[in-house]
Amino acid sequence: MEPFWVKNTASSSIVVVGWHRLSYEFSDGSLNLEELKTQIRKVHAKVGNTKIDGTYIIFGAGAIQLLHAAVHALSAHDSVSTAKFITSTPYYPGDTSKWKKDAEDSSFIELVTSPNNPDGELRKAVLQGSNAKTIHDLAYYWPHFTPVPSPADEDLMIFTLSKLTGHAGSRFG
Ligand SMILES: Cc1ncc(COP(=O)(O)O)c(C=O)c1O
Repeated sequence: MEPFWVKNTASSSIVVVGWHRLSYEFSDGSLNLEELKTQIRKVHAKVGNTKIDGTYIIFGAGAIQLLHAAVHALSAHDSVSTAKFITSTPYYPGDTSKWKKDAEDSSFIELVTSPNNPDGELRKAVLQGSNAKTIHDLAYYWPHFTPVPSPADEDLMIFTLSKLTGHAGSRFG
C-alpha cells in the first residue's frame, strides 16, 4: 500500500504536537482510548466486516501479540489439564483436521485463519464440541482483500492495522 500512502501524503499525515498526550488522560479525565475505540467501531460498521456492537475491544502490539494473549486467556489455569493449540498451514504450521476425532475427549484451542494467508480461502472452525475453543484470525477480512459475504460474529476475533492500512511496522492489533 506504499504507493497509495505516498500519493496521499498531504491528506493522510498525522502530526502530533508536543503537548499532546503528556498525561495518561485528557484534561476532562477521559481516556483517549475511548475515542480510538469509537473510531475502530466506525470503521468496522462502515465496512460491515464484523458485528462490532456489544463487543469488547482489546488493543495489542499487532495481531500476533493478541494471539498470544488469546491463547493465554483461553487456557486452563491449573497444572492438571492442558489444552492443545491447533493451527493449519500454510500461514501457521499444523493440520487441524487430524485432531477432529479427539475433539470430544480432549481440550483444544483452534486458530482459524480466515481469509487464509496466502490463498484467501474463507475458513470455518474444524473442531467442534464443548472442549473446543476458537480464535478467529480475521486479519484479511477487509473488502480490499476479499469479498465480505456477511459480518463476522465470532466470540474472539483478531484484526490488525497491518492489513487494514498496510502499516505493519506500526504494530497495532
Ligand atoms: C493471517 C495473518 N495473521 C496475522 C498476521 C500478523 O499480524 P501483525 O503484523 O499485526 O502481528 C499476519 C501477517 O502477515 C497474517 O497474515
